[in-house]
Amino acid sequence: MTDKPQSPHSEWSSRFAFILAATGSAVGLGNIWKFPYITGQNGGGAFVLIYLLCVLGLGIPIMIAEIMIGRRGRHNPINTLQALSAEAGADPRWVYLGRMGIAAGFLILAYYSVIAGWALDYIVKAFFGQFFHADATEINQQFQALMNSPFQQIVWHSLFMVLTMAVVVRGVKAGLEQAVRFLMPALFFLLLILVAYAMGSGAYQQGIHFLFSPDFSKINADAVLTAMGHAFFTLSLGMGSIMVYGSYLPGKVSIAKTTLYIAGADTIVALLAGIAIFPLVFANHLEAASGPGLIFQTLPLAFGSMTGGWLFGILFFVLLFFAALTSSISLIEPAVVWLVENRDMDRQKACIWSGAACWLLGVAVVFSFNIWSEHTLFGKNLFELLDYLTANLMLPLGGLGIAVFAGWVMSNAITAQELELPQRFYQIWLFFIKYIAPPAVFFVFLHVLGVLG
Ligand code: PHE
Ligand code: NA
Repeated sequence: MTDKPQSPHSEWSSRFAFILAATGSAVGLGNIWKFPYITGQNGGGAFVLIYLLCVLGLGIPIMIAEIMIGRRGRHNPINTLQALSAEAGADPRWVYLGRMGIAAGFLILAYYSVIAGWALDYIVKAFFGQFFHADATEINQQFQALMNSPFQQIVWHSLFMVLTMAVVVRGVKAGLEQAVRFLMPALFFLLLILVAYAMGSGAYQQGIHFLFSPDFSKINADAVLTAMGHAFFTLSLGMGSIMVYGSYLPGKVSIAKTTLYIAGADTIVALLAGIAIFPLVFANHLEAASGPGLIFQTLPLAFGSMTGGWLFGILFFVLLFFAALTSSISLIEPAVVWLVENRDMDRQKACIWSGAACWLLGVAVVFSFNIWSEHTLFGKNLFELLDYLTANLMLPLGGLGIAVFAGWVMSNAITAQELELPQRFYQIWLFFIKYIAPPAVFFVFLHVLGVLG
């Protein structure tokens, strides 16, 4: 009963290759674009603290669970859940968890690609020296001009989507290992340069204070949900990405240790981005809560006035683009694997269909920043709706499902065998996955619904 299902597809060349790919998936726009702006919108320190607690208490145990499920199932999320629930004698409807995940990845990529397109546009701006000695007003005007041009955004979004699908079509292994191996240290280095610049900006203390001194009067149920949802989003959890990557993982690898590396790297990149950005916000009297444009309205100010800013600006947006690319391929990979394994498509056809559908939805997202910005539902435009639906609802729900599945449906004999942890650590993981993660997600949902007042 405990022998493993046969793998229908290839494995990573090493544990290191898996760490690189999973880190590539985790570190992306979520860290550098989204974390700063939602932190700004939700008042800073208290929000950051809740996010960090969610990474520790929910993200890490659930990432361990999701990688483990993937490695044991060795298929796309739907077939994996089918096989493992059959193995456990559980309800076959667990496959819906896989379906929701595939849908979530697809919906996220539609707007992710648009934002990555902004980064592409900023490579060009940086190259032509548009930030040179520009003040906050000019930088803001440049960003607004991009927002007001559906055409420009669609061009970049299209290019990004084509590049994503071009990588996915060749399979996740080709090129990815190399790209991430160089990308992560380079990104880290550039963030350090930006942090050094922020230290001299005159508002460093204020930025640090904003990020790290919690003021809980700024927090409501929705902010807690956003912080929790972001913990899932930033770690690529709850939708099958890490599950699919785990399905390529060789059997002999310590899942828990690997998880700590990935979560650690992801968290450090996000915090560095925050530390680089908020001093600039305050030094230039900008609005911390200004929304999705935040990094595009702040970092160019640094590039425009620092020594070597021309080169660093180009490098930064190139790296941001690559970071987005290594995440975007993992967003669509579950859908592609599913089409290949269940719909009998070849990989190329699966890529074309899923990419085209995602592109179309992305075009609608572009319009939500300009010609359709007044069209709202529950006070949210299409971009905001998709973001809320995926990051705040689908991913936490998916994470909840994964926790329940790993903790309550799979047998302890199997999970213990897969994880091969020292008894004490296994017990801690099991406790979090059974008794902490599911109730925590559940209670946050109830709060948002207003059930608990
Ligand atoms: N983790 C990625 C980021 O922070 C986004 C992502 C979410 C990727 C879910 C895959 C799955 O940018
Ligand atoms: Na991330």
